Amino acid sequence: MANPHATLLTVSFVFIVIATAPKLCVSTKSFTIVNNCKETIWPGMTHSENFSGGGFTLKAGQSAVYTASDGWSGRIWARTGCDFDKNGSGKCKTGDCGSVNCTSPGSPPATIAEFTLGSLDFYDISLVDGFNLPIAVQTFNGTGNCSSAGCDGDLRQSCPSELALKDGDKVTACRSACDVFKRDEFCCRGMYGNPEACSPSNYSKSFKQVCPAAYSYAYDDPTSIITCTGAKFAVIFCASRNQTVCSYRDNRLECNGGVHGSTAYKAIPHSWWGLMFSLAFMFNLWITS
Ligand SMILES: *[C@@H]1O[C@H](CO)[C@@H](O)[C@H](O)[C@H]1NC(C)=O
Ligand SMILES: *[C@@H]1O[C@H](CO)[C@@H](O)[C@H](O)[C@H]1NC(C)=O
Ligand SMILES: *[C@@H]1O[C@H](CO)[C@@H](O)[C@H](O)[C@H]1NC(C)=O
Ligand SMILES: *[C@@H]1O[C@H](CO)[C@@H](O)[C@H](O)[C@H]1NC(C)=O
Ligand SMILES: *[C@@H]1O[C@H](CO)[C@@H](O)[C@H](O)[C@H]1NC(C)=O
Ligand SMILES: *[C@@H]1O[C@H](CO)[C@@H](O)[C@H](O)[C@H]1NC(C)=O
Ligand SMILES: *[C@@H]1O[C@H](CO)[C@@H](O)[C@H](O)[C@H]1NC(C)=O
Repeated sequence: MANPHATLLTVSFVFIVIATAPKLCVSTKSFTIVNNCKETIWPGMTHSENFSGGGFTLKAGQSAVYTASDGWSGRIWARTGCDFDKNGSGKCKTGDCGSVNCTSPGSPPATIAEFTLGSLDFYDISLVDGFNLPIAVQTFNGTGNCSSAGCDGDLRQSCPSELALKDGDKVTACRSACDVFKRDEFCCRGMYGNPEACSPSNYSKSFKQVCPAAYSYAYDDPTSIITCTGAKFAVIFCASRNQTVCSYRDNRLECNGGVHGSTAYKAIPHSWWGLMFSLAFMFNLWITS
């Protein structure tokens, strides 16, 4: 569970040090978070040392725009099957963090998009905590590799039965072998706690088959981390990495063509600042629905 995240945190730390030393021009990156699923999802985002995290409701066909500044390092995932009370506390069937507004990472199983922003941005999709929804991370107008991260299919449809999380007959998520069996060789810990000793299992191989551009276990090939400079990001739930959901027009990222056919996605504006500049972090969320 630790390795790719630890790598990203280390990388993030290096960039925070670099970014805080001289008076560099502060750069922000935008994230357009798109719900291409047929049902409502509750995206969540965390975490950095001083970043309080958050979360919100996103109905089918909606999108939300966030900005984060260089130095931010964290995760974006989606929760499914949530039921919240008026105070925003409640539970979700997958990815749960205890409230609408997440202050901690979601509980597995959940597909996770990981980011570390700097002069060079790092991103990946991780299945180390399992899989609940397909996520594709696509970039626009960046320079460098900038390839799409994510899956080519929905892992819930090919989930080994012993890993499947079910709601009735429906597979709602595919748990990781580490999460289900809690064995060191699946979790890459104990005597398997290094890249040489921890090799892919038949479970992680079946994940990798559906999601070649994702981390399938803790010490998966580090080339699953992709780099890009100066891009705008789209984080699209329920899309494959190869699917065109968003395009760049008139200096704007437009996302449509999902479940509502030709209807354009409804954008929910939002501002999301990285931790360095905001000890007094303002979370001005407004959702139109
Ligand atoms: C919501 O919060 C208020 C004040 O914190 C509390 O009095 C109330 O019982 C809460 N309601 C629910 C449904 O938890
Ligand atoms: C979310 O929780 C954090 C930490 O408790 C808080 O700072 C922030 O204002 C909350 N945001 C919303 C929209 O409630
Ligand atoms: C982004 O790329 C498109 C073409 O893909 C181009 O028309 C547009 O001017 C670019 N915008 C910026 C801000 O670079
Ligand atoms: C993985 O291997 C175990 C035995 O080592 C076997 O029981 C299980 O069915 C295999 N699972 C898959 C998905 O091949
Ligand atoms: C981009 O990076 C990915 C992952 O490291 C790699 O598989 C791919 O070949 C690279 N693409 C280009 C165009 O360099
Ligand atoms: C990606 O899409 C292109 C064209 O839509 C198709 O030719 C290609 O086979 C797809 N690749 C994958 C891995 O699905
Ligand atoms: C987080 O906040 C603490 C104190 O509030 C500060 O010492 C630390 O440098 C901050 N970390 C980052 C990464 O900005």
